[in-house]
Amino acid sequence: MYVKKISLKNYRNIERLELELKNGVNIFYGSNAQGKTNLLESIYIGATGRSHRTHKDKELIKFDKEEAHIRLDIQNDKISDRIDIHLKKDSKKGIAINNIAINKLGELFGYLNVVIFSPEDLSLIKQGPQERRKFIDMELCQINNIYYYNLSQYYKVLKQRNSLLKKILKDPSLKDTLFVWDNQLIEFGIKIIQARELFIKKLNNISKKIHMEITSNKENLEIKYKPNVLISEFKEKLEKSIDKDILYTTTSYGPHKDDILFFINNINVRDFGSQGQQRTASLSTKLAEINLIEDEKAVLPVLLLDDVLSELDKDRQKFLIKNIKKLQVIITCTGVEDVLKNLDEEYNIFKVSDGNIL
Ligand SMILES: Nc1ncnc2c1ncn2[C@@H]1O[C@H](COP(=O)(O)OP(=O)(O)O)[C@@H](O)[C@H]1O
Ligand SMILES: [Mg+2]
Repeated sequence: MYVKKISLKNYRNIERLELELKNGVNIFYGSNAQGKTNLLESIYIGATGRSHRTHKDKELIKFDKEEAHIRLDIQNDKISDRIDIHLKKDSKKGIAINNIAINKLGELFGYLNVVIFSPEDLSLIKQGPQERRKFIDMELCQINNIYYYNLSQYYKVLKQRNSLLKKILKDPSLKDTLFVWDNQLIEFGIKIIQARELFIKKLNNISKKIHMEITSNKENLEIKYKPNVLISEFKEKLEKSIDKDILYTTTSYGPHKDDILFFINNINVRDFGSQGQQRTASLSTKLAEINLIEDEKAVLPVLLLDDVLSELDKDRQKFLIKNIKKLQVIITCTGVEDVLKNLDEEYNIFKVSDGNIL
């Protein structure tokens, strides 16, 4: 699948843009703060309904404007789809697929699959568990339509439960109603845990092979799911921690505290790996993400490479470019040398300057 055309209006620092993209490599270069990541971000929003950089839609609208528009024309084999995102300063965003408005964000997933790769992703292993959960969730939402529903239900229930905990602190008689939320928390929580477990198993199988190849068979990468609570113990642990939860008005157990662990040759990479190992393992994981989407959805995702090539050494750069040949790739960079050196196929190249694409 690929983005055939991108149209933007009053989006970030881009006032107007209509641009046809190539089903292959598209390079956007320019100095800092010109709008390269903004452009990439708009494609990401077209795929997931939200930005990878902010959860405040307002920030996406050009400073002095009331509304912004993103339109993406997608081609997938013989099927074309149009995604419209209408961002408004004072109300909820509107999303339409093929000119028909959708009510639930979950309906958007799957029309455009993307994998985004930015310098922060290279520190996926070093960052906090929240970033790793976000990574799993964004990926799972794209390949599994019910996952998004279960996840949003789970977080809704969690919020309700936490707010009830606060009330119980003032009025202990409300404690008897907590089980209503606990039952739902467990119901949706179990579905999330199951989906994550399966996903990480598949991701592990793929990333292991990739990592072997990058490291010339020296390193055995193992990605393991670390659920905060086992399904079989979820109910019991929730019950046992009720008093503590009330005291701290927070829910101690559940997949909102999950994590994933990375091992190289049986050694925990987060604690003992070198920075180079951590970054290479992140690269393998990201590349595995592409293959996983291909396996699960039988489509090739669009790869968004945000300023990441210059972060990699020569061998990693070459490996990355070699492995993304069949995809539509959107690359942003400040200098084009690194990119062009390793590239032997045709490409489109654009200069980004002060929100204009030349
Ligand atoms: N809502 C907005 N309205 C206008 N300009 C914005 C908005 N949000 C960000 N910008 C501008 O966009 C620029 C950053 O663009 P970005 O795409 O991140 O740069 P880069 O080319 O380095 O990737 C900054 O100059 C910033 O002021
Ligand atoms: Mg940038």
